[in-house]
Amino acid sequence: MDKMLECDVLVFASPVYALSVCAQAKMFIDRCQALWARKFLLKTLSADDNKRGIFIATAGQTFPDVFEHTVPVARFLFNVAGVKNKNMQYILLDGLDKKTDFSKSERAKEEVLKAARDLIGE
Ligand SMILES: Cc1cc2nc3c(=O)[nH]c(=O)nc-3n(C[C@H](O)[C@H](O)[C@H](O)COP(=O)(O)O)c2cc1C
Repeated sequence: MDKMLECDVLVFASPVYALSVCAQAKMFIDRCQALWARKFLLKTLSADDNKRGIFIATAGQTFPDVFEHTVPVARFLFNVAGVKNKNMQYILLDGLDKKTDFSKSERAKEEVLKAARDLIGE
């Protein structure tokens, strides 16, 4: 948790399982309720204007809004870790079901490369 609070860029990834983040990601996020308490009850945590967040999610299907239940759950984690919504970037890659789908998808590769370049300021 300390590392999450101290970092400049927080990157978190999850596949879409049953329309939300996977169970392991959800379990991790649930444990961060302690940060929620520090932020909203104890008021000992505040957002950092410069801290950036990147959420990466993959989904097998391509229907509209396939990430609509995933993004708000992930946003909870970024918010309690001190990332403002304006500093969030979402890499939402749909249509990735088979092992080879990512390497075959020019769009997916481009999106990830662009995010990496943005991150290092290229
Ligand atoms: C248990 C399970 C549930 C899934 N549920 C969804 C879903 O609700 N919507 C969807 O688009 N894809 C769903 N998928 C497909 C995955 O999101 C997709 O294959 C993803 O790329 C898997 O990433 P992983 O290899 O890291 O598990 C599901 C896959 C699994 C194994």
